[in-house]
Amino acid sequence: MTHYFISGDIGGTETLLQAGESKYGQLQVYCEHRYASREYKRFSDMLKDFLERVAAEVKRCHGIDAMTHSLESLLSANPNPFAEAMALGVIRTVHTWLPRAIADGSDLEARSQMLMASHLAGVGQASGTGVGLVHALGHALGTRGRLAHGTALAVVLPEVLGFYAAEAGLRDRELASAGAALGAASATEEPAAAAGAAIGELRRFLASVGQRYRLGALGFDAGALDVVAQDAIDDVAIRNSPRLPSFDEARAILASVA
Ligand SMILES: [Fe+2]
Repeated sequence: MTHYFISGDIGGTETLLQAGESKYGQLQVYCEHRYASREYKRFSDMLKDFLERVAAEVKRCHGIDAMTHSLESLLSANPNPFAEAMALGVIRTVHTWLPRAIADGSDLEARSQMLMASHLAGVGQASGTGVGLVHALGHALGTRGRLAHGTALAVVLPEVLGFYAAEAGLRDRELASAGAALGAASATEEPAAAAGAAIGELRRFLASVGQRYRLGALGFDAGALDVVAQDAIDDVAIRNSPRLPSFDEARAILASVA
């Protein structure tokens, strides 16, 4: 039997998981265009069959992952204007279309929008911005708790952004732009206030798509927080965070969602 590993966390999986019924092109076409190999076509046929049966739960997890990649790209310690433009477009698109894609799996417009957003999330990040503390904590939670990647990210996403915002002036402009993309703030609003509005809207949005769990509900108890915090500190994904936490700060973020 041939085993295929579908890599996560590079934008690609998120794109593929939205691609099954997209009007922008069937997955098979996408794969044939890129790889033109019989082996890959066999893989694409198999994956397409999987995509057609994939549950809404998987779709919503990957939609949140695409948005998180763009938020972390936008707030990266190594930002660039190209990544910022990509990120703001993805944040706006996921916020608008993910609820529709979840509500009705046959909504081709919604799935097409999510396909492009997922793809562009990877394109923007590939310019060198990387991810950050949300992913570092999410990797640890996902690995230790056997959680879907997007679900693990959503547990700590607003809290990590709050950790950044607690440092005056740190990425206020970028978070304020995200607030406008999320429809929660105006472009003329004072940056710190708009940044706060962005975090508040993300909290509401995650709950609205069923992706706002507390750690206790996911099987973590207080005894697990130390090892998860240390995993996150040791994760290379943390390096592009605009603010690096100490162990105690990372643990405090986890404790706030216990
Ligand atoms: Fe990811």
